[in-house]
Amino acid sequence: MDKFRIIGRTPLSGALAVSGSKNSSLPAIAACLLTEEPVTLHRIPEVRDIGTMLKLLEYNGASVERLPSGAIRIHAAKITNPEAPYDIVKTMRASSLVLGPLAARTGVARVSMPGGCSIGARPINLHINGLEHLGATVNQEHGYIEAAAPEGLRGNTVHFERITVTGTEDLMMAAALAKGTTVLENAAREPEVVDLAHLLTKMGANITGAGTSRIVIEGVTKLHGAEHEIIPDRIEAGTFVIAGVMTNSEIIVSNCVPEHFASLLTKLRQAGARVEESADAVQIRPVGKLRAVDMTTEEHPGFATDLQAQFMALMTGATGISFVTENIFENRFMHVPELARMGANIRIEGKQAIVAGPSTLTGAQVMCSDLRASASLVLAALVAEGESILDRVYHVDRGYEKIESKLAAAGANIERVA
Ligand code: EPZ
Repeated sequence: MDKFRIIGRTPLSGALAVSGSKNSSLPAIAACLLTEEPVTLHRIPEVRDIGTMLKLLEYNGASVERLPSGAIRIHAAKITNPEAPYDIVKTMRASSLVLGPLAARTGVARVSMPGGCSIGARPINLHINGLEHLGATVNQEHGYIEAAAPEGLRGNTVHFERITVTGTEDLMMAAALAKGTTVLENAAREPEVVDLAHLLTKMGANITGAGTSRIVIEGVTKLHGAEHEIIPDRIEAGTFVIAGVMTNSEIIVSNCVPEHFASLLTKLRQAGARVEESADAVQIRPVGKLRAVDMTTEEHPGFATDLQAQFMALMTGATGISFVTENIFENRFMHVPELARMGANIRIEGKQAIVAGPSTLTGAQVMCSDLRASASLVLAALVAEGESILDRVYHVDRGYEKIESKLAAAGANIERVA
């Protein structure tokens, strides 16, 4: 298992370029199941979760080809296997994104229950309820969800009792081929939902309201092929902006859409950081010590839960007390004991972590647990005194494309150790 070896306290400089969004690529790949024509996707990042999703689509019967340009061409001419097997889903729970498309395209979908993950139980009851509202019969047995819609899906109103990102995406894809009109109420408003709606529209779908909490989809009988560029990864971008602020560097985070992580930029300014945004980049300038500020995670456009761990790492070096509240997942503080090993002063009380700073972090051997907790350990190691060894960096590889080469090119002392 690979490790990272990081020597802290080297300021960054130059630029950190952002890759395409993992969380927009995953539903976009699933959407290719909705048409028998080829779809070409640009800017798909080379991260583990994408590899898993492409393997799943090949299992379903699609052909997958990485073009010389780096784009991916997916052609689901025939679905020979409308199933997402356990051994694929257990490594990547977002495989449940094929549930809606398989049911819509073939009338049958058999998807392994994703099982829990380190940040929480992560049920998919809202996906299942939504599909039942569209006329599918859904059974759950032997750890699998079996959805059947032999006469096809029918449009209906689906009210999400809780906002769910992939639930919204799954149902939007299913509704695109349903007979009649579907209204998704209390829908997720994330930029990745909007990006998926853009792709589906290029494929011939009829969708309005993506980006608001009410999305209307007029079903069509067929969807055709399309070409689409995936939006930049706002979580990678936010992670890099925090890296620049934390290391007190003069650096640019480029190829991103700052408005997609406006809530982070607002928080950083409240803490005293100097972050200037342009249309596709953020310029960070050193300011010395930051003030501690409180932060609460919310659905978009609120502060992203996927940036909570990284922001907490930043707050360990800020002056004062910061109350960090995690509202989205029930167990997303795995980074806290690891940060404490590096000298952070953090107390957990239920959904809140109370960070007292500033602490001087020192390098240590730490363990990566989930994708974003691991990112926060990378950030902490960049500012810690001395050497840190991060175990199980495959967690980082799930969602960050070549993070160590990007950081090393910007001046960080980081190397991957097999
Ligand atoms: C998406 O996960 C992202 N993954 C997550 O990013 C992100 O943390 C999350 O949205 C929240 O923003 C992808 O887009 C592939 P949810 P998702 O459904 O859709 C509960 C990363 O690090 N819920 O919005 O699975 C759920 O347990 C990953 O890149 C139900 O109860 O999240 C959670 O508490 C981690 N029933 C809350 O809703 C359901 O049927 C929000 O979950 C579905 C969700």
